[in-house]
Amino acid sequence: MNPVLEPSPQRRQLGRSRSYTCDDVPPRLLNWHAPRANRWERLCVESGELAVEWLDADGVRTEVLANGMTRWVAPGTRWRIDRIEAHARFALEVHADDATAAAAPLPLRAALLDEAHCVTIDTAAELAQLLDELSAGARALVRASFDFSAAMREAIARSTGRLCWHPLAADGGGLTALVARAGQPIDLLEYLGRDHAVIESALAGALRGDAERMQWLRNSLARHLVIEEEMLFPAYLAAAGNPGWVRGLCNEHQHLKRHLDHLDDPASQRRFLLLLDGHDEKEEQIVYPDIVLRLGNGLVGLYRQVMDLGVGEVVAKTA
Ligand SMILES: [Fe+2]
Ligand SMILES: [Fe+2]
Repeated sequence: MNPVLEPSPQRRQLGRSRSYTCDDVPPRLLNWHAPRANRWERLCVESGELAVEWLDADGVRTEVLANGMTRWVAPGTRWRIDRIEAHARFALEVHADDATAAAAPLPLRAALLDEAHCVTIDTAAELAQLLDELSAGARALVRASFDFSAAMREAIARSTGRLCWHPLAADGGGLTALVARAGQPIDLLEYLGRDHAVIESALAGALRGDAERMQWLRNSLARHLVIEEEMLFPAYLAAAGNPGWVRGLCNEHQHLKRHLDHLDDPASQRRFLLLLDGHDEKEEQIVYPDIVLRLGNGLVGLYRQVMDLGVGEVVAKTA
């Protein structure tokens, strides 16, 4: 990494993590990873020392950061924490560089629904066959003429955590959902990250003027907010989670809902894109890791509840 590299003054801090120690550093930070397109991360050493590795064209370089030091990490820079002193503490800030602000959903995520294999089914037997044939790492966009929620919940329960679903629409007795099979058991926070990707992908379609994708966006966002506001956040707060973070996120949910109704207005659309992009990032990088720490095994039961939540009941409630 070039040590003089810094973000533009137009940066916006999305959040700052809690203080990490060698006992509770998120595993993500110990593996190679990189801030995404318009994101800067700042490592802030609060006490002790940590060694950080940078991966660039010249190979791996190690740098020791001491108490009081901060270091910017530019978008796309591959880095990881190599060593943390026993009594060292550090925090990680995530900043958005508004000089290159999001003008569209992230391309990788935006294509998720467009690229999914699409299957139309009319019977439970066809669903069972589809799920049987779905290989690890594969996804299918299932359009059914009947409500397969109950069958899907049972299949998920039998899959030892490898199957998940993102219901998108329930109307006229039918159901549409993205179903996925993973190679490893999926936990709640991985699922919520996948759900963010589904929402961003529906948004990409909605912005192209696709009315069905707009409906999927409304439905999947409504369900996601119910998961967070009625299941995840109350459990996190009961486990002494950070109430300021939860207040801030719920406040952003309100703004998202407001701008969603006016996506045809360019100013509202830009605001919605900026908000959603920063919001998802803040949750995935800063808040969700703290939720894992506070809730531990409690996440397993919550994930079961989330997999039981369809979309019809959410839409009926928010209508
Ligand atoms: Fe959220
Ligand atoms: Fe979220």
